[in-house]
Amino acid sequence: MLHRSARKLLARTHVLQCTFWSHEPLLNPVDSSAAAARVVSTLTSKTLDRDHSSNSDNVGYHWPITPRKGTSWRQQSYSTGFQKVGALQQGMAEMVSHVIPMPSDIRYADLIVKRSDHLQAKPSLDPLGLKFGALYTDHMLQVSWKEGSGWTAPSIDPVAPMTLHPCAQVLHYGSCCFEGMKAYKDKDQHLRLFRPDMNMDRLSRSAACLTLPEFDKVELLECIKELVRVERDWVPAKEGFSLYIRPTIIGTHPFLGLSPTREAMLFVVLSPVGPYFPGGLNPIKLFVETEVVRAYPGGVGDKKVGGNYAPTMLPQLRSTQRGCSQALYVLQDGHPGGGIVGESGAMNIFFLFQQEGTMELVTPPLNGLILPGVTRDTILTIARDFGNMKVSERQLRFGEIEDAAKTGRLLEVFGTGTACAVQPVTGLLKNDNTEITIPFDSEAAAHWLAKLPGMALAQPGTDEPFSLCGRLTRILLDYQYGKVESPWSVPIDP
Ligand SMILES: Cc1ncc(COP(=O)(O)O)c(C=O)c1O
Repeated sequence: MLHRSARKLLARTHVLQCTFWSHEPLLNPVDSSAAAARVVSTLTSKTLDRDHSSNSDNVGYHWPITPRKGTSWRQQSYSTGFQKVGALQQGMAEMVSHVIPMPSDIRYADLIVKRSDHLQAKPSLDPLGLKFGALYTDHMLQVSWKEGSGWTAPSIDPVAPMTLHPCAQVLHYGSCCFEGMKAYKDKDQHLRLFRPDMNMDRLSRSAACLTLPEFDKVELLECIKELVRVERDWVPAKEGFSLYIRPTIIGTHPFLGLSPTREAMLFVVLSPVGPYFPGGLNPIKLFVETEVVRAYPGGVGDKKVGGNYAPTMLPQLRSTQRGCSQALYVLQDGHPGGGIVGESGAMNIFFLFQQEGTMELVTPPLNGLILPGVTRDTILTIARDFGNMKVSERQLRFGEIEDAAKTGRLLEVFGTGTACAVQPVTGLLKNDNTEITIPFDSEAAAHWLAKLPGMALAQPGTDEPFSLCGRLTRILLDYQYGKVESPWSVPIDP
């Protein structure tokens, strides 16, 4: 018991050391556990030896430093020495001499909330006026990290521009990763997240591949929930509308050499959003991109890192110039069956084929070339539960899609993503301006969308029109807005 407290206090002294002794100010040097740290500080303040200097007072005890077992090099603590200056300090030092000081992690208990004095007026829920990602709420979450000392205390502050050194790594080498998740308001005005654990896991994997710091996923999620609570009035209470949540981690270390991250910042901003494609379940066209490669074997196409998105802006522009909403990336490898179908700019992609005697819903596999979408996984699970079609995660060559379209076996195509939910696709425009047209039955989709909560989960009646897209959308929305209870929908306590 005593050991645990001492260990905690020591973990905080590590922050204290960085906060009070460093010449370089932290981006966010606030530490709510400073009080706790001060206890140790008064015991050991004269004993904290920042640079192992050979000051003549620095005699005696030195803190044994060992990297935490199983940690990466980034997590190792490089603590300074402690010297005993009295019996109490000596006693404490001996008590915890075998304990390894750890860099501090993100902790919800440390969260500080500073509310803005200037709250903006909330927007009206107009699907056309509420352009995706164009409007931000009043507050943001932020926390900074430094090699050796770990994360500072998280804080919720008024949204404000950030100060970065012009040599900050993110500005030169794109060390940035992010997430896209949403908060929904249910019919009882309660706030809900949808499978947020998957977003935390993916953020952690994305960060790791850029040497951005690891973090406690549960604690970060609690801080995000608090931010959403602070901004609860910004969460629209209407189906199709939600509060988009954008957690981001950037490398802030001012260093022009190419090296692993030594300083970072994590922040979360929020944006009230309407439907991604304002027409709702109105179908879109995709441009078949065969020249620009979004992801390749051995790359980071399955991570949500900024570097995956910047090169897609030009194809996105070309797609819209040709009347398409997004590009569909098809990797060319010279195979006679056509290129390998990946995903679109911000959606995973699904194809429904009529096969001999059955239907097959196909989406590309998680082979490193596509983002492991939260919505993709949800749709796969729901479709498998239907039990009346084959559901496959398998490699898909473009030739198979063309053949199926020619022979009338391509029944539906749709994209999935947090931003758009389920998005029907009615056309695939190729570079030679030929187009593959895909059927979309808007009446059948409307039939399924109009179902009461939970009804779309039941087996369809024999006289019901067929729209996989419409049925899946209804079920997904029912879960996201808490109309049908599921472990996927995570309520945020009031
Ligand atoms: C490239 C890409 N693929 C797929 C998706 C869909 O992922 P999710 O369902 O987790 O939002 C996104 C959305 O962020 C994306 O950017």
